[in-house]
Amino acid sequence: MLEPEAIGLWTEIKLQIIHEYAAAYTKILKEREWCRGYGYIDAFAGPGEFVAKQDRDRIISGSPINALNIEHKFSEYHFIDINQLKINHLQDLTAGRPEAKTVHLHLGDANEILKRAILPNFQYESFKRALCILDPYGLDIEWTTIECIGKTKTMDVFLNFPLMDINRNAALKTLETSNPEEGMRLTKIWGDDSWKHLAYVEQGDLFSSSVLIKKDEGNEILKRGFRERLKQVAGFSFVPEPILMKNKKGGHLYFLFFASHQPVAQNIAEAILRKWGAK
Ligand SMILES: C[S@@+](CC[C@H](N)C(=O)[O-])C[C@H]1O[C@@H](n2cnc3c(N)ncnc32)[C@H](O)[C@@H]1O
Repeated sequence: MLEPEAIGLWTEIKLQIIHEYAAAYTKILKEREWCRGYGYIDAFAGPGEFVAKQDRDRIISGSPINALNIEHKFSEYHFIDINQLKINHLQDLTAGRPEAKTVHLHLGDANEILKRAILPNFQYESFKRALCILDPYGLDIEWTTIECIGKTKTMDVFLNFPLMDINRNAALKTLETSNPEEGMRLTKIWGDDSWKHLAYVEQGDLFSSSVLIKKDEGNEILKRGFRERLKQVAGFSFVPEPILMKNKKGGHLYFLFFASHQPVAQNIAEAILRKWGAK
């Protein structure tokens, strides 16, 4: 039995952003005669419903269920989660719905499942398109996955860049005090260790060995650097400024990135991000 997870206001805002974009996305793609299908891929899907932190009687649909609830449906849905109980819960929530036949549930690691079972069906020659949501709790996305998604040229992506996990574990103020295994997790999502040279500066004098100290504007540097990588290395032509998601106390949780190959997609996403980011 799955204990319901409680979510705060910023998670509700993220859900709203994805929901609004998904609704606009299918509305546009249903008019494109060349398009042979448009999928929704929730790679870190979660259980499909939560309760509100402030009022545990208020049930809130998660991103997979919101995607099923939009007016113009996607032609296929892929929900991936590594947790069996969450997949079971999604199964209960989706069975019996009119869209059930188009829903594919995948149990396992999103990085492996995307590359093996889903991306091959969305190559450019397929004339299919997809909206892919990469929303883990922490540093669970591999750069190779992001790069493979970018290279398809068929997908728009929302991506959670987990600043809190990075700052608490992988990239501490003095790099030498971070557990190297934690640093490796950041290298895995970043694709190489160039984040160290960007965000840190060497400090020391003649009498002590030098250490790497994080620059004051470390978060901004990581944001700019990752945005550049999405464009230059993963090949997304359009990556608007992400929004910073914070908790109730103002603590920095993550950057919500959007990446696409279409200018119209960027315009729509940017307007939605700006609207909610300003709240
Ligand atoms: C933040 S939740 C997703 C919430 C969902 N996007 C929503 O807003 O409704 C992250 C989910 O990722 C799952 N997860 C963690 N690591 C994973 C992995 N390597 N592959 C697939 N799912 C994973 C967790 O079990 C958890 O349910």
